[in-house]
Amino acid sequence: MSRILLIVGGGIAAYKACELIRGLRAAGHEVRCVLTDGGAHFVTAMTLAALSENKVHTTLWDLKDEAEMGHIRLSREADLVVVCPATADLIARMAGGLANDLATTLLLATDKPVLIAPAMNVRMWLHPATQRNVAQLRGDGVVVMEPDKGAMACGEFGPGRLPDVSTIVARITSALAPAVRSLEGRHIVVTAGPTHEPIDPVRYIANRSSGKQGFAIAAALARRGARVTLVAGPVDLPTPPNVIRQDVQTAEEMSKAVADALPADAAVMVAAVADWRVEDIAPQKLKKGEDAPAPLRLARNVDILATLAHDPHRPRLLIGFAAETERVLDHAQAKRQRKGADWIVANDVSGDVMGGDANAVHLVTAEGVESWERLPKTAVAERLADRIADAL
Ligand code: CTP
Repeated sequence: MSRILLIVGGGIAAYKACELIRGLRAAGHEVRCVLTDGGAHFVTAMTLAALSENKVHTTLWDLKDEAEMGHIRLSREADLVVVCPATADLIARMAGGLANDLATTLLLATDKPVLIAPAMNVRMWLHPATQRNVAQLRGDGVVVMEPDKGAMACGEFGPGRLPDVSTIVARITSALAPAVRSLEGRHIVVTAGPTHEPIDPVRYIANRSSGKQGFAIAAALARRGARVTLVAGPVDLPTPPNVIRQDVQTAEEMSKAVADALPADAAVMVAAVADWRVEDIAPQKLKKGEDAPAPLRLARNVDILATLAHDPHRPRLLIGFAAETERVLDHAQAKRQRKGADWIVANDVSGDVMGGDANAVHLVTAEGVESWERLPKTAVAERLADRIADAL
């Protein structure tokens, strides 16, 4: 368990700090919160106190706290200081070394690593002053997460959105990297995301896989010291630290990238590979026509997992995923045998798993079935990585 000091700044994304507290606690961390004056316009101290089950600190001018040098103690007792959301103003004050409220005072007083997740209007983020301040903070050793691109609360579009809470949890977990390098010297191949099977130059067959679970597993393995080759289908996710990433589009490309990555001690096949590809990809955009027959003729894609199971270089531990919407365990058991995998991680994807941040999985092995409680995908990844380390 690590202790995280979370500073909540004053922006519309402050409400996501509430979700972040839950994610961090689910991952086993203790969270203490500091709420800035600005932040208090968006969320209440009561909400943060209830979610963190800890006292929330709001002012430098608390006689009782300061009699015990509260701001020094707060900043020193944490393993990591996180600012989320980090507003343009807070970033500027940090970069300038100001100490004019509790948040900036303890940011100046801390001797612990600091990670910030900026969120603000796109023009404020791209403003040379903010970019200068961010560069200054990075130079000072602060981990500054890149904001996401997308539609903003203010109606504009571009970089400035707070990254997904699961991405922030993953970065925090990696900043708190466990000292245990239980997978040092191992090479592990991970596949993740969907595949895109082209129909013509502008269309493709795909599925709803976001790649989040596979990326979280790659990150968790790398943190334990493994050399990780992550073969990723088309997803919009940052490469986890210390992971070698191969981007691919189609199942065929994914299959080749996996074969090229061998030998490996283990392979974790998380990708939602399309079972079918279009036999004759049209060189030009297909036209509807009035009486034209439905234009697609499909051919079976190679099963990467089953192929790997029979490869002379088969990894010692071969793990498949099974996304099912009914009779989850029956299908998973059958899939384990049919595909020749050692383990199958089975999940019920009839709810909001695909694209979501949580997952309830069953680990199906030759010994039987273990059902895990619903966990953030990052926590599933951590637990699976520990099991892999035990098995190797
Ligand atoms: N998989 C693969 N190559 C494929 C299809 C699937 O490597 N062409 C892997 C996936 O990465 C996953 C596992 O096989 O680890 C299960 O995939 P899934 O699509 O659930 O299984 P299917 O064989 O397609 O079975 P079904 O369609 O009956 O669910």
